[in-house]
Amino acid sequence: MTSSGKLKVGILGATGTVGQRFVQLLADHPWFDIAELAASDRSAGQPYERACRWKLSTPMPARVKSLIVKPPEPELACDLVFSSLPSSVAGEIEAAFARAGYPVISNSSNHRLDEDVPLLIPEINADHIEIIPVQQRRRGYDRGFLVTNPNCSTIALALALAPLHQTFGLRAVMVTTMQALSGAGYPGVASLDIVDNVIPYIKNEEEKIQTEPLKIFGALTDDRFVPASFQISAQCHRVNVSDGHLEAVSVKLERPATREEIIETFRQFTSPIEELRLPSAPSRPVILKEEEDRPQPRLDRELAAGMAAVVGRVRACPILDYKFLVLGHNTIRGAAGAAILNAELLKAKGYL
Ligand SMILES: NC(=O)c1ccc[n+]([C@@H]2O[C@H](COP(=O)([O-])OP(=O)(O)OC[C@H]3O[C@@H](n4cnc5c(N)ncnc54)[C@H](OP(=O)(O)O)[C@@H]3O)[C@@H](O)[C@H]2O)c1
Repeated sequence: MTSSGKLKVGILGATGTVGQRFVQLLADHPWFDIAELAASDRSAGQPYERACRWKLSTPMPARVKSLIVKPPEPELACDLVFSSLPSSVAGEIEAAFARAGYPVISNSSNHRLDEDVPLLIPEINADHIEIIPVQQRRRGYDRGFLVTNPNCSTIALALALAPLHQTFGLRAVMVTTMQALSGAGYPGVASLDIVDNVIPYIKNEEEKIQTEPLKIFGALTDDRFVPASFQISAQCHRVNVSDGHLEAVSVKLERPATREEIIETFRQFTSPIEELRLPSAPSRPVILKEEEDRPQPRLDRELAAGMAAVVGRVRACPILDYKFLVLGHNTIRGAAGAAILNAELLKAKGYL
């Protein structure tokens, strides 16, 4: 902990697309202070300013420029770590940190579906953090633990589904995503592949979107997660947009509802964790746009500082019941912002 009472945090994968977003969002955070930055052998040993090809539109925060990037080994001087490592290495490295006593708040997919790891969206399943003592007991972790946030498209989708699931129940969900380039990391998709083009394939993405919501909306009973039982079909596409995943969703509900009731349900969905006053929590996790041609990535991704799911074009579906669009900022609510909100919840609930 720092002299000002903030928790010291480390960022694993700090030079990457999500890592840079962590650095930006944590630069003036009231509860957390960036103490350690880690990345690959390519970067380790260099000052962050030299190691990192900074791609955000705000300047690199002055105080991280001279921090020396370290290897992602559990010898970092910090109270917890955020991880945005590639899935090729994240699984083992994150487990090593948890074993060594660090709370690990991860973006990577490796541990998301582990039976004792929360797949957390604080506005939906905050109670899932109660599995943490079980995880620690089962794995022999002392102070350390693993908490994950869902896939970037899953988070926006789940936030939009939450009010419908609560009020009417869900039977089936069909979703077609149009996902931004920053979702592929840096340098990501080659320009000659994506200019004037749409790529109708993102490795493992459809599988993630088809499974993760069932864990998120599942119940934690008797030390285990019982998944929700609705069906999900996803089709994923990479499009020529810098930030912001747009998703076209159709839903079949358990109970009949009028369009007005659906609209009202979206409008009235407030954050169930509002009383915790978490610094990164949007006051409205779902924002409903009324214009006929919204949400749009360029115009709407920064609403609520990029932390809300922006819904629009709610209308009847002739095959299922209703269809709508949802937009989420993939590196903020879909990644770094989501993990920071998870850490804030864990701190407010006494886990950090
Ligand atoms: N981009 C998104 O919108 C998004 C959203 C949700 C989740 N995620 C997940 O977040 C993770 C990071 O994604 P990204 O888009 O930020 O990727 P990225 O831009 O490619 O960044 C990868 C980061 O990991 C480091 N790294 C690479 N190989 C490593 C190794 N062998 N050992 C240690 N560090 C290594 C890189 O360091 P160097 O600079 O030193 O190479 C860099 O800091 C992935 O698991 C991804 O699936 C991404």
